Amino acid sequence: MVSPTSRPSLVLAHNNLVSASVLLQHALSSHTAVMAFNFTNMEILKGIVAAANEMKCPVILQASASAISYMGMDYLVALVSSAAATSGVPLALHLDHGSSFEICKLCIDSGFTSVMIDASSLDFESNIATTRNVVEYAKEYGVSVEAELGTLFGVEDEVNISLGKARYTDPDEAAIFIERTGIDSLAVAIGTSHGPNKGLRESPSLSIDRLKQIKAKVGEFPLVLHGASSVYEDAVELCNAYGADIKNAHGIKDSDILEAVRNGIAKINVDTDLRIAFTGALRKHLHENRSVIDMRQYLGEATKAVQAVVTRKLSAVAG
Ligand code: G3H
Ligand code: 13P
Ligand code: ZN
Repeated sequence: MVSPTSRPSLVLAHNNLVSASVLLQHALSSHTAVMAFNFTNMEILKGIVAAANEMKCPVILQASASAISYMGMDYLVALVSSAAATSGVPLALHLDHGSSFEICKLCIDSGFTSVMIDASSLDFESNIATTRNVVEYAKEYGVSVEAELGTLFGVEDEVNISLGKARYTDPDEAAIFIERTGIDSLAVAIGTSHGPNKGLRESPSLSIDRLKQIKAKVGEFPLVLHGASSVYEDAVELCNAYGADIKNAHGIKDSDILEAVRNGIAKINVDTDLRIAFTGALRKHLHENRSVIDMRQYLGEATKAVQAVVTRKLSAVAG
């Protein structure tokens, strides 16, 4: 049982569980990016870690507040602890889109090595104040902090952002924000959105111009790209062929992501691609094996599909 008052240290327990900033600084200096994958159960976690080991590529494992309440903090931390103990590559455990100081503190106290405080819906000064609070607490434990400036449209952990409210990150504000908060990485809004429906356009494109302007102001600092799923056509078709109804699905081309990495993106967040892969494999297996009731069979297939899509992503972007 993990007590929230005495931070158990996963970091001390396993050298393989590192702060995300260690991975980000390495990515920055080698002009590459670290992939960050969301997980919500043991199968997804195992698929991600198997791919990371196969590709010999460190990754960030991230969980949203709703993923934590679904899995239970103790289960989640114990699973990641086991994954780190047996992993051949470094891993970081990161809170994705933490909406308050309290959830960040809980994660830090529970052994996370990185947190995101997403106060991007607040005004600039309140975003700075909230973020600064989290940084001060996190630093005591060597935990890295990501924050967000600007607004992606789509769904961010139960918060719906309409297109009209979406806002690119302001380059001048980004530089001031980094300086005043002491964060380790900054999520920027440059045209991506969460989920399988990335905008109204056929092929959503990133504003590399805006990214370059931000980079010019912030210098060598790790920038984070949220909403970076490719929403692969073949994966969506497989899902739909076996009963799903995923409409208007468009993602970010891997070539666009590479261009973003060349221009300062050091962390790439992917969740939707894993959801589609998992669901497609599950649907196919159940459809083709109607008498099967042993979940090890269909969840095993879903795990392999997650491993395959993570490998695909790592080869395309971080390989
Ligand atoms: O950025 C949002 C992630 O895709 C997490 O979504 O809150 O449904 O786990 P979730
Ligand atoms: P996708 O929905 O594109 O996978 O984005 C995930 C994400 O940004 C998690 O923070
Ligand atoms: Zn996100």
